[in-house]
Amino acid sequence: MKERVVVTQGKYCVSAVNRDQYPSVKRPEIVFIGRSNVGKSSLINSLTRVRNLAHVSGQPGKTQTINFYDVGIKIAGDESRHDFYLVDLPGYGYAKTGKAQRLTWKKFIEEYLLSSGSIRFIAQLIDIRHDAMKSDVNMFQWLVANGLPVLVVATKSDKLGRDAGSRQIDNIRRALGVPELDILPYSSLKGEGRSELLDVIADSL
Ligand code: GTP
Ligand code: MG
Repeated sequence: MKERVVVTQGKYCVSAVNRDQYPSVKRPEIVFIGRSNVGKSSLINSLTRVRNLAHVSGQPGKTQTINFYDVGIKIAGDESRHDFYLVDLPGYGYAKTGKAQRLTWKKFIEEYLLSSGSIRFIAQLIDIRHDAMKSDVNMFQWLVANGLPVLVVATKSDKLGRDAGSRQIDNIRRALGVPELDILPYSSLKGEGRSELLDVIADSL
């Protein structure tokens, strides 16, 4: 079947730790947030189908700056190309990151999220094998309290069978305190969830 949304470009743009370093050209932004090692960078690679675009590591704490990627899509029935940024963030909740470093990250990530003005939505990633942890619940509530639209994505869905996966998704809903919440299962390995996420992005632009 022909896909509705086709990615035509995915390339690195810029890394930032403060406001002067954000891209000079304003574009809609789709942001990925989640605990270290949850699969944010892998998701960006699978979505764009550009290998090694974002750096992936088995060691948590790999991404340490706010990384902007230039992405273009074509939507079926629409002649023009739509350009936007995918934004990769350092993970939260990694114990081995020192406390001072964690506070610095928290500060520049919060500053970015609150000042950007171009964020269409934030994909909050939670590992499908784990229940939402305190740090996930806190982050979810902070995003909602600040009026930022959130899409919860359950990553590494290839690690669980279908029944176990949907049970875990229910557990995540319960932990976040929103029983009706839409949660998108995603596998960067298998491509599950990719076309659904591209649809959500296309509709948000
Ligand atoms: P930080 O940058 O440290 O915050 O981590 P991150 O969230 O960017 O995670 P990253 O994409 O670097 O992936 C962490 C590990 O999970 C790597 O070993 C990946 O290969 C693995 N991984 C990511 N996505 C998937 C997936 O969909 N399925 C499976 N099986 N493994 C995955
Ligand atoms: Mg990363």
